[in-house]
Amino acid sequence: MQTVKHAYIETFGCQMNERDSEIMAQLLARADYQPTSDISRADLILVNTCSIRAKAEQKVYSLLGRLRRYKKKKPELIITVAGCVAQQEGKRIQSRMPHVDIVLGTQNIFRLPELVARAAEGGRQLAITLAKDFVIPSFNGVTVPVLNEKDAAGRSCRQFVTIMQGCNNFCTYCVVPYTRGRETSRRPADIIAEIEKHAAAGIREVTLLGQNVNSYRGIDSGPADFPALLQAIAAIDGIERIRFTTSHPKDLSDELIHCFARIKKLCPHFHLPVQSGSNRILKSMNRKYTRESYLERVEKLRATRPDIALTTDIIVGFPGESEEDFAATVDLLETVRFHSAFSFKYSDRPNAKAVSFPDKVAEDVKAARLSLLQARQEEITLRRNREFVGRTLPVMVEGRSKTDGQCSGRSTTNHIVNFPAVDLAPGRIVEIRVEEACLHSLRGRIIT
Ligand code: SAH
Ligand code: SF4
Ligand code: F3S
Repeated sequence: MQTVKHAYIETFGCQMNERDSEIMAQLLARADYQPTSDISRADLILVNTCSIRAKAEQKVYSLLGRLRRYKKKKPELIITVAGCVAQQEGKRIQSRMPHVDIVLGTQNIFRLPELVARAAEGGRQLAITLAKDFVIPSFNGVTVPVLNEKDAAGRSCRQFVTIMQGCNNFCTYCVVPYTRGRETSRRPADIIAEIEKHAAAGIREVTLLGQNVNSYRGIDSGPADFPALLQAIAAIDGIERIRFTTSHPKDLSDELIHCFARIKKLCPHFHLPVQSGSNRILKSMNRKYTRESYLERVEKLRATRPDIALTTDIIVGFPGESEEDFAATVDLLETVRFHSAFSFKYSDRPNAKAVSFPDKVAEDVKAARLSLLQARQEEITLRRNREFVGRTLPVMVEGRSKTDGQCSGRSTTNHIVNFPAVDLAPGRIVEIRVEEACLHSLRGRIIT
């Protein structure tokens, strides 16, 4: 009798990594590795890694170090490293961590079952990554696994769908062009077929993923660009809400802005990373837009869709950032009044151009700037959230909240909303009157 094998997966990084982990979990399930959340039971451990900042990479190595003792106890255990650190480091991971059996690059996730089979037969130290300038996406020509209705039961009603990966922008601080390769779009027909299957399994909301979705280019037949793809996805029965991330400000076309007026299912939330409010720094980051052109795009978005919630990413302490440059960033936050912002201290990354830039900002200066900026943004976020008090919002139920007797869902603007209710089905849309605003969520009551 064949014994059941178990796979434990740990995921770091962005939504694209989360989606890749989901796909790899399904590929492993087909190869008879059932998912487990108990690492000590695992016959296979997969670490899906992120390299965006030095700290993210350090976390990966410290986890890999801790895995050594599991391998010692159970030598047949298969340890796999996937994701951006795997792509970046390749076989170097195995020279540092000889207990790692498989290193799997970002464009090769579909080859996981084949490698696992080889490792199970005694193959050691297998690695598949591609050269830095690879162009062929492994997801064209393969069928992305999708959960059926039975397996999807009890899951959330939201789904990430990768529509493209890679990046051609080469922002001078960023590692992603080297870990995800050049921009490659999936075929429109594949994307639509995948979303139709998700919809059939009960998914109501999709978030389309790519490092730079504005550059989406349909190959073969069907929608040719991102606005056309959005239109085609909006026509899929069962899908009620559409979101996307990430969008580069330099490529934000009038046509895409117009989609927010035209496509009802498109949620009024836009994540538009600005990085800095100083033109000098933006230039040195190779962002290819100015503070002024960014603000012009924001105005146009708000004129088109007045209820749109804007969020952003900020880097503080980029090489050469003066007090004046930093003040320009804080001023931009106060001018735009984003609903929320993710902010980070600049971190040197392998291959990124800024590594060799002079005038690095001292760690303590970066830390002080980050906490000042975050405090300002918290005030803005709280004031923004208070603007919802007294208003009624359609909220899609996601499940129980952490508090007893409460459910949790999301507004179209991507705010978490908690409200008293017992076990409403995920995916249902309820009208909630907002009574209270917190920093990270809203609270209210069902009115229908
Ligand atoms: N593709 C997206 C973002 C990818 S990374 C875009 O173009 O905006 C997510 C965020 O991490 C970035 O927006 C940036 O704010 C931050 N980030 C990227 N590289 C970084 C680095 N070297 N140091 C600090 N923050 C960084
Ligand atoms: Fe990195 Fe810039 Fe590409 Fe975003 S657009 S992934 S920040 S290089
Ligand atoms: Fe990290 Fe790679 Fe995503 S570096 S942020 S996991 S694309």
